[in-house]
Parts: sequence; C-alpha cells; structure tokens
Amino acid sequence: MTEQPDVDYGPLKNLIGAWAGDKGLDVAPEPDGTEHNPYYETIIFSAVGEVSNAESQLLATIHYRQIVKRKSDDKVFHDETGYWMWDAEARVIMHSFTIPRAVCVLAGGTYNGETDSDGSILLTVSAGLDDENWQIVQSPFMRKQARTTEFRHRVTAGANRLSYSETTTVDIYGKIFEHTDRNELIRQ
Ligand code: HEM
Repeated sequence: MTEQPDVDYGPLKNLIGAWAGDKGLDVAPEPDGTEHNPYYETIIFSAVGEVSNAESQLLATIHYRQIVKRKSDDKVFHDETGYWMWDAEARVIMHSFTIPRAVCVLAGGTYNGETDSDGSILLTVSAGLDDENWQIVQSPFMRKQARTTEFRHRVTAGANRLSYSETTTVDIYGKIFEHTDRNELIRQ
C-alpha cells in the first residue's frame, strides 16, 4: 500500500479521526450475577488506504484502537484494536478486531444508505458461531469456560458525534449472558 489520498471510504468516512466519550455503560458477567461499570474511553480511527484482494476485491480500510477506563478507578479494563473495511462493489461492511482475552471477531453486514433518526450514518454488523460468513475465533480455554457465541454491533456516525451499542453473547458460569456496552463520543 502507498499513500492514497483519494480513497473513498463510503459509509466509514465519518469514523476517521479521534473520539472521546464519558457516558459509557458496561454490563458484564460475574459468577454470582452481573456487574455494571460506568466508563469513559478514547477511540482513534486512522485511514489505512485501499487494499486489493485477488486482484478483484477492493477494500477501503480504516484501523482503530479503543481504550476504555472504568470510572470507579480510572484503570483500563478493555483494550481493543482492529479494522473497519468497506467493499463498495458488494456494499459490504466488515469489522475485524481482537481483544486481549484471546478472542477475535470478523463481523459483517451490508450498507445501503441506512441513517439514524438524526441523519447520522448507521452501521450494523454481526458475527456468530452459527453464521456461515462472519465468525468468532477464540482460545481453547475461552471456548470451554467463557465462549462467545454471538456479537452484534450498531454504530451511528455523524460529523461530530459517534455512538455505539454492542452485545456480546457469552456462555459463562453455566448460563448465557448478554454482555453489553454502549457509549456516545464527541470528535476531538
Ligand atoms: C467497551 C467494551 C467492553 C468492556 C468495557 C468490557 C468489559 C468487560 C468486563 C468488565 C468483563 C468482566 C471481566 C471480569 O469480571 O473479570 C468482561 C468479560 C468478557 N468480555 Fe468484555 N468488555 C467489552 C467488550 C467486549 C467485546 C467486544 C467482547 C468480544 C467480542 C468481549 C468479550 C468478553 C468475554 C468473552 C468476557 C468473559 C470473560 C470473563 O468474564 O471472565 N467484551 N468484559
């Protein structure tokens, strides 16, 4: 890849830049129930350029790094990195990422001009162990003890505001837990 100033990032364009938000709420599993963690975070999305696959598929690609801190102790409790990709010809969005629990996700969805009620671009992607296209890879330990079975992610991106809500379904402590995270961020 070389410097590519003219790449069309399609519906991902608004993501590019630095964002911060302090209205986060995490709902996470505990052996005896549920923990609720208010949080704040930064996400930096950087334009990577256009990638070509098999000389035929073109992906406009954005890299991101998300750092999330608990309000109660200001410590990082979620660190995530990955890519968002846009295949304009197929109108497919892909979101690949990894977290340091030995879990990797490749989620996908289509985009056909969807917007939120305020006109922001609306991106939705999902992955699941039963999905033939969009998958989750996890370590043998996590598969046995804290298996992620599904991931759903909804992002709205406007010029200066970004919000998301995501649900990670985890089979843990003998039950199926809906681990959720949401936040609203402002462009920095
Ligand atoms: C803002 C985003 C997120 C935050 C703040 C967050 C936070 C947490 C917290 C606090 C726990 C409980 C850990 C513990 O008690 O030791 C947890 C568990 C877990 N998270 Fe997340 N998480 C986020 C996103 C994700 C995503 C995107 C995935 C995967 C797709 C994921 C997968 C898991 C799994 C598999 C567990 C179970 C492990 C355990 O509880 O021991 N999380 N997360």
